[in-house]
Amino acid sequence: MSRKIVAGNWKMNKSMTEAQALVQELNGMAGAWPSDVKVIISPPMLYLTQIAVNTGDNLHVAAQNCHAEKSGAYTGEVSAVQLKSSGVNFCILGHSERRQYFGETDESVNAKVKSCLAEGITPIVCIGELLEEREAGREFSVVETQLKGGLEGLSSEEIEKCIVAYEPVWAIGTGKTASSDQAQEIHAFIRTKLSEISSQEVADTVSILYGGSCKPANAKEIFSKPDVDGGLIGGASLNASDFNALINSY
Ligand code: 13P
Repeated sequence: MSRKIVAGNWKMNKSMTEAQALVQELNGMAGAWPSDVKVIISPPMLYLTQIAVNTGDNLHVAAQNCHAEKSGAYTGEVSAVQLKSSGVNFCILGHSERRQYFGETDESVNAKVKSCLAEGITPIVCIGELLEEREAGREFSVVETQLKGGLEGLSSEEIEKCIVAYEPVWAIGTGKTASSDQAQEIHAFIRTKLSEISSQEVADTVSILYGGSCKPANAKEIFSKPDVDGGLIGGASLNASDFNALINSY
């Protein structure tokens, strides 16, 4: 099975009308996408149901977050059970913006990962260091702690079902992308750590995506690296022609 994935994280952008227009454009382009690349879009939670029914077979839908509990008195939250019942099969978890603005920790991410796996939703587990952590030479230890924390207590079979996204925080929305060598170095490290907590076989099947100012102009170079299995794209996923170009960078 191919590990290649291009996923678009729309964050808190677009009206419903704009979202539907973008999906319609993408549906029109999907026939020409490489057949071994899985394409995922992650619109705002409110639009998921509507969009999930309007995407063709080549386009999958992800939530940007979920709550760890199945149901209950958690005003404003949405559970993995509810996502699954709405036709959503992927969920981004632990994005740095959620860690920064909403107090998410490796522990809360881990609980959400487990709730998604219990419902058959594929978690896209985001990890990545801050600029000051990289400048202090701590990028490997930060990434290792977040990876192990997010996947704590999972069996090898469960780890195999996860997608990991390496998003150095200093590269998100800044126009400063990691060089392809910097990305490869961390991705290879993540794969080694995955093999230590599961097996080499499992580590070899997990997709590890790069995120952070990934654009049509730099994607080919980044995606060419052996341990980079695609991208988690922010800004450039909001525009059909850029996202299409990213998918066709493979
Ligand atoms: P940008 O591509 O806008 O830098 O965002 C990356 C990201 O945060 C995807 O989750």
